[in-house]
Amino acid sequence: MIYETIAIRFTLNGEQHKEEILAGMSVLEMLRDILKLRGTKEGCGIGECGACTIQVDGKAVNACLMPAAQLDRREVWTIEGVGSSSHLHPVQESFLSNHAVQCGFCTPGLIMSTKALIEENSTPDHKEVVHAVSGNLCRCTGYQQILSAVENAVETCNTHNKRNK
Ligand code: FES
Ligand code: FES
Repeated sequence: MIYETIAIRFTLNGEQHKEEILAGMSVLEMLRDILKLRGTKEGCGIGECGACTIQVDGKAVNACLMPAAQLDRREVWTIEGVGSSSHLHPVQESFLSNHAVQCGFCTPGLIMSTKALIEENSTPDHKEVVHAVSGNLCRCTGYQQILSAVENAVETCNTHNKRNK
């Protein structure tokens, strides 16, 4: 069988990137299997768990549902581009300090959904916070700590932005 390949260019975690991909391959397959970026998790593979959430042009998307070919000329952020082990992103800090992480499988997706929410809407109300993470399933924590972490991250990011104005 002959598989068609497609060349795409996109920005990945702030850097220009060029990739040859198989037509029909998902963004999740490209990230994990070709680029070895395994922070983006594969849970259900059918758009139901949110473990594979990344940002494309600022919006939270399920990488398992998006064809990699659609990334051409887009801006992509994955968990690997968020903070670093010596300098965590405020959203990551907030998840830790609010005890919103147990096994951690859902955490990268939740961090990406939270980051997308904060970048799109700096003053979300409780309903908007709940909606933003409603596609991210967690089987460990219960959702109270997660919602507290998201609300706390919103506050911290706003304080940080005000200070930097
Ligand atoms: Fe993509 Fe579950 S792996 S939504
Ligand atoms: Fe284990 Fe969320 S912390 S699934």
